[in-house]
Amino acid sequence: MSGLTLGIETSCDETSASVVDETGVRGLAIASQDAHAAFGGVVPEIAARAHLTTLDAMVAHALAEAEASHVDLNGVGVTAGPGLVGALLVGVNWAKAFAFARGLPFLGVHHMEGHLFAASLEDPAAVPPFVSLLVSGGHTMLIDVRAWGEYRLLGATRDDAAGEAFDKVARRLGLGYPGGPEIQRAAASGVAGRYVLPRPMLSSADRPGDAEYFDFSFSGLNTASAILAEELEREGRLAEAVPDVAHAFQEAVIDVLVEKTMRAVELLDVRAVVLGGGVSSNAPLRDRLSRRLGSTWTLHAPPPRLATDNAAMIAAVARHRLGAGERSPWSLNADPALAFPGLSDVRYATHHTSQTVF
Ligand code: KG4
Ligand code: ZN
Repeated sequence: MSGLTLGIETSCDETSASVVDETGVRGLAIASQDAHAAFGGVVPEIAARAHLTTLDAMVAHALAEAEASHVDLNGVGVTAGPGLVGALLVGVNWAKAFAFARGLPFLGVHHMEGHLFAASLEDPAAVPPFVSLLVSGGHTMLIDVRAWGEYRLLGATRDDAAGEAFDKVARRLGLGYPGGPEIQRAAASGVAGRYVLPRPMLSSADRPGDAEYFDFSFSGLNTASAILAEELEREGRLAEAVPDVAHAFQEAVIDVLVEKTMRAVELLDVRAVVLGGGVSSNAPLRDRLSRRLGSTWTLHAPPPRLATDNAAMIAAVARHRLGAGERSPWSLNADPALAFPGLSDVRYATHHTSQTVF
């Protein structure tokens, strides 16, 4: 598709607009709402109001960076879900009105499919087939990506998402929000092995076809970290132990994420792994996964500004799907629980069919 595709992202606490074309990101503006920091988490009403006041400026910035105007646009994509409904509605209504007024093709995009496309924006080789590990504040998914739009869910979290665990443990340790970068920073000066925390859903006895083989669970690790923090606090040693606890927590998460990804690539006939989502900007995670994959598999990871929430990844999905002729109706609504398009859940297939899915 020639021309620029506009993407809009307002599902959580980043207000973002971007224009992309076949060469990648041409303009990208992201306003991170820091008003939430004081509350230790995202306040939905504050998020929606901030999107409303910031979105126009983000679109203007993205177009200016691309040295383009709306006449250069060939379509509009917007995150339609999942996310906070009030926040999503701001973007969906803005994009719908804009596209309708300018006679542009319009598409609602699934936020996690955006994360799946993010790496491909700056890395032309990050295209299917591959195994993808998507790790964000709301989701943890291991996906077998056969083609764009053809996805098999191998594993997902049973409770907290990986990013959510980083945020909760950071809060318990008195670190700032979002917790991921804070934990990474604190852990860098932590002593390896001083504390050891559990690796949930990771046992050498797991076998392909077991319900636990690819699934994740982080709430128990969160509780174990909180109990350790409580003990250290009682002994008056928490402040000095924060880097060591952060290190132990981060190592536990990385071990689980890396091992589950290795299980997937070893079982499937793929040569590449694509990372996505905010947690994928964690440097020790990238390093360890890259080392484990060695020269047998290639690791593709988005640069940090495209790993966390941004509108370029939404524009990338829109560009692909609009180019294939897909359109959303003008009646499109924001859907906080939007289903991932083209995703089939093969997790427990072996139990139901007694036939291996691999
Ligand atoms: O993908 P994202 O920007 O938003 C959602 O879709 O949720 O992910 C945000 C999550 C937060 O939980 C944040 O703590 C985490 O990504 N995160 C990190 C790092 N940077 C962001 N987690 C670990 N290490 C990081 N460097
Ligand atoms: Zn996200």
